[in-house]
Order: sequence, then structure tokens, then C-alpha cells
Amino acid sequence: MTTTTTTDRSPTADRSDAGSAAIEARGLGRAFADNDAVEGLDLRIGSGEIYGFLGPNGAGKSTTVRMLCTLLAPSSGSATVAGFDIASRPDLVRLHIGAALQEAALDPVQTGDELLRLQGRLYGLDRKQVDQRLRDLAELIDLGDALHRPIKTYSGGMRRRLDLAASLVHNPDVLFLDEPTTGLDPVSRASVWDEVRRLNERLGMTIFLTTQYLEEADALADRVGIINAGRLVAEGTPEELKRRVGDDLIVARVGGSLVSAREALDGVNGIHRVDEVHDELVIETANGAATIGPVAIALGHAGVDIHDLTLRTTTLDDVFLELTGNRITHHDLDDEPDTDHHEHATTTTEAAR
Ligand SMILES: Nc1ncnc2c1ncn2[C@@H]1O[C@H](COP(=O)(O)OP(=O)(O)O)[C@@H](O)[C@H]1O
Ligand SMILES: [Mg+2]
Repeated sequence: MTTTTTTDRSPTADRSDAGSAAIEARGLGRAFADNDAVEGLDLRIGSGEIYGFLGPNGAGKSTTVRMLCTLLAPSSGSATVAGFDIASRPDLVRLHIGAALQEAALDPVQTGDELLRLQGRLYGLDRKQVDQRLRDLAELIDLGDALHRPIKTYSGGMRRRLDLAASLVHNPDVLFLDEPTTGLDPVSRASVWDEVRRLNERLGMTIFLTTQYLEEADALADRVGIINAGRLVAEGTPEELKRRVGDDLIVARVGGSLVSAREALDGVNGIHRVDEVHDELVIETANGAATIGPVAIALGHAGVDIHDLTLRTTTLDDVFLELTGNRITHHDLDDEPDTDHHEHATTTTEAAR
């Protein structure tokens, strides 16, 4: 049997000189019959980045991941992952990536330990190397004694972590996580977030993570690509994307004259504009968190009676709405967006413009 070991990471002639790009896609596309699941996708993801691929159900996230992991052939375009072409060197791509995909198939009677050892052997590690990796991962994944119990006894969160550990046995350069927290309870979700941050910070691993959760992309990703109906509609850091949509809003509901309340705000730094909407002042500012204090003080000094002072910062949901005309909603999932809050905010935004 020919052994290809993951320990040999010397550059080969097949490795492209793609600079520091861990993932590069050019015009990548995949059609299913006449359905263009993914179309004309251009990506350039640097080594060591956490890239959040954000989009609603059916947007084309899994199709993209499956192409980049060499599990699905593209119908157009090309891509390199970890420096190797997905079409001509899928074997080398697979050696350098790990993937925890949505439809993880875990054998219920196997123990976690057995699964991880099998995975290590499949990647050509010898017993000593596998032992070492399991020691590294035990610390990282923290499955404890459960590692020696059958997988069927695991909770959803534990299965997800085992699947994540399995994808890491061979110490990949690039990790693909397809909706790693969908359906998880908040505690398990937080532990996956910690894990992703740790892998990235400690090992410098490049992480391509898909999600329907705006707050997940916001919290984890260095850069976010927003995909809708098979097309990348925006890309940037969470801050850049939010800035595209506009200002934070401070809404002050006050007693008495709005005109005098408004005059009281004249000297406050950082205010771009103030509108009177019904009995509220809607204050636009680049940095709501920094401005809400001075606003409260100025109103207080002027003797204005403040009934309510609320801050609404721009979210990635606003970005998605502006780009696509829809909100990302997950009716099938556990956490409904706070509809009242959003509707109220949308009204004031529109009224303010
Ligand atoms: N194996 C397949 N056969 C036919 N259509 C598919 C297949 N996989 C995905 N699709 C279609 O491609 C589109 C994108 O799906 P997918 O990539 O799974 O989206 P996401 O992961 O963002 O929810 C959807 O319209 C879906 O129905
Ligand atoms: Mg999917």
C-alpha cells in the first residue's frame, strides 16, 4: 500500500503559488438541472482567516463547501484550497483540509475514541501519531470519559464536538464547518464558538464557516461573505458591511418641547443628524455606544424630561435586508428574531430619511 502521510507538508510541484491565499475560487459554479445553486463565485481567503459564509436556507452554502472539499464537482469555474487545485489534485486538497459537514454520519455503536482512531489511520497516521493527536484533541475538545462510550449515548452538542474532533485528527491547514451550530442549544453554541476561536488563534488554522446566524458571523468572522440565491452579494469585515448600511440610531422619547430638546443636542460631538418623529428624537451617529452618554448628559443639563433613551446599532441583518430586500429568518430554528424591536427600528429609520 502506498502511504501518503499528512506529516509531509513540503511544497510540491502541484502546489500553486497563490501567495498566502488558503482558498481561492474563480467563477465557481454548480447547477443542478436548471437550478443554479451557486453561480460565478469569486473568493480569496487568506491563510489564518476566519471567513463567515452567511446566507439563508437554500442560498448555496453547502454546495460551495462541498465543491471546495472536493465532494462535488463544479459545473463551472475553478478553485484552489491549501494551494491545490480542487479538480486536478483532489487527493492533496483532502489531505490538507478538515470538514465537519451538515450531514455528519456517525456510527452509533462506535465509541468516540474508535471513530477518531479510525479517522487518524485513514489519513495515514501511525498509532503513535494518533495517540499524540488524541492527547492534543482531548484538551481541545474536552469530551472526557464520554470518549469511551458509544456515540449513541452522546448529546447533540457532544456529537457535534466529536465530528469536529474527527475533522481535526490529521491537523488540517484549512477547516470547513458547515452550519456548525444550527440547532444547538446556547451553551453548546458558545462552546463551538470558543473552539473555533481557539483553533484559529492557537494553530493559525484557516476556517471557512457557513451560518444562517448573523450574530455568529458577526462574533466569529474576520470577514463575511453574504450569499443569496447562489450569488455573493457582499463581502467585508462585519464592521465594513455594517458601515455600508449606515449610522447607529439613538432614539430619545422626551417630555415637553422636542424643539428645545433638539437645541440641547447642538453641542454634542459625533451627531450626524437629528429628526423629530412623533414624540421622539431620532439621532443618527457613527458610534451609538460612544454618543449615547453625551446625549443623555446634554438633555439632562437642559432640563429635558427623558422618558426613554434607546440605542440601536446596525446589525448584519440590516445589511442583508438592504442587499436582498429580505431578512434572514429561521422559522425552523430556535431563536426567532426580536420582531418588535426590528419593526420599530425599521419604521424610525425610514421615517428619519
Ligand atoms: N444534490 C442536489 N440535487 C439537487 N439540488 C440540490 C442538491 N443540493 C442542493 N441543491 C439545491 O441547490 C440550492 C442550494 O442548496 P444548498 O447549497 O444546500 O444551500 P444552503 O446550504 O445554503 O442551505 C438549493 O436550491 C437546493 O435545493
Ligand atoms: Mg446547507
